[in-house]
Amino acid sequence: MRSLLIVVFVVLFSSVSLTASEDWGKTGHRTMGEIAAKHLSKRAAKKISALLGGESLAFVSTYADEIRSDDAYRKYGPWHYVNFPFGGRYENTPKNKKGDIIVGIQNCIDVLKDATSSQKDKEFYLRLLVHFIGDLHMPLHVGLKEDKGGNSFKVKWFGKQTNLHSVWDTKIIEGYGMSFTELTSNVDALSKKEIQTIQSGAVTDWMYESRALCEDVYANTSVGENLGYKYMYRYVNVSRKQLQKAGLRLASILNEIYG
Ligand code: ADE
Ligand code: ZN
Ligand code: ZN
Repeated sequence: MRSLLIVVFVVLFSSVSLTASEDWGKTGHRTMGEIAAKHLSKRAAKKISALLGGESLAFVSTYADEIRSDDAYRKYGPWHYVNFPFGGRYENTPKNKKGDIIVGIQNCIDVLKDATSSQKDKEFYLRLLVHFIGDLHMPLHVGLKEDKGGNSFKVKWFGKQTNLHSVWDTKIIEGYGMSFTELTSNVDALSKKEIQTIQSGAVTDWMYESRALCEDVYANTSVGENLGYKYMYRYVNVSRKQLQKAGLRLASILNEIYG
């Protein structure tokens, strides 16, 4: 009986700490990875598949979260997000000395473009890049320092205590009840021109899009509010669009790197 209780406790505790650190949730990250895979050039797809030992972009998209609680990888923690004040500019805000998502993405791209990088490093930083392009499109990962990107912004989700960050990482998308393959095959149909427009611009431009969405979220959510269907339906298409943009943009970065 005692050992059963211990097992129950460990399972409960580990699942709580797991959900607290997951970005976009697994479904969100896998969706953007799968969308990216559909927009790779043949050459890029071949090189990436060789580097990842046949694992898909969807499969590796959650790797950066899986290593997050391991002390050996602690230095990559700040690469999942960036915080600066509403109405402020990233460029004018003192930088986090430990890095941020913009620094992290650039580091990954630099390693992948460097012909002298080892295969092992290329594989590792490719896994991280897939994840961080996803995180960049999660509005609260371009957030506010004072509430840790909404992690300490308390709200309820269908009556249960949680925080705004978790609602956006996981609950809106997973509450919608579609698998990552269903979400991937139900994206907005876009013309070539529309795809090109989404893929244009710099990583910082994409960051400011997330920032604008983050400001909209804060204007429409109150501390302690009980969020449910109304909130989910208000924002699920915003989340789906962000995942589509993330996938298309990841593909354009990878097509550029691998030709
Ligand atoms: N920790 C501190 N700020 C954060 C953010 N914006 N997103 C995720 N984790 C954070
Ligand atoms: Zn997150
Ligand atoms: Zn992350």
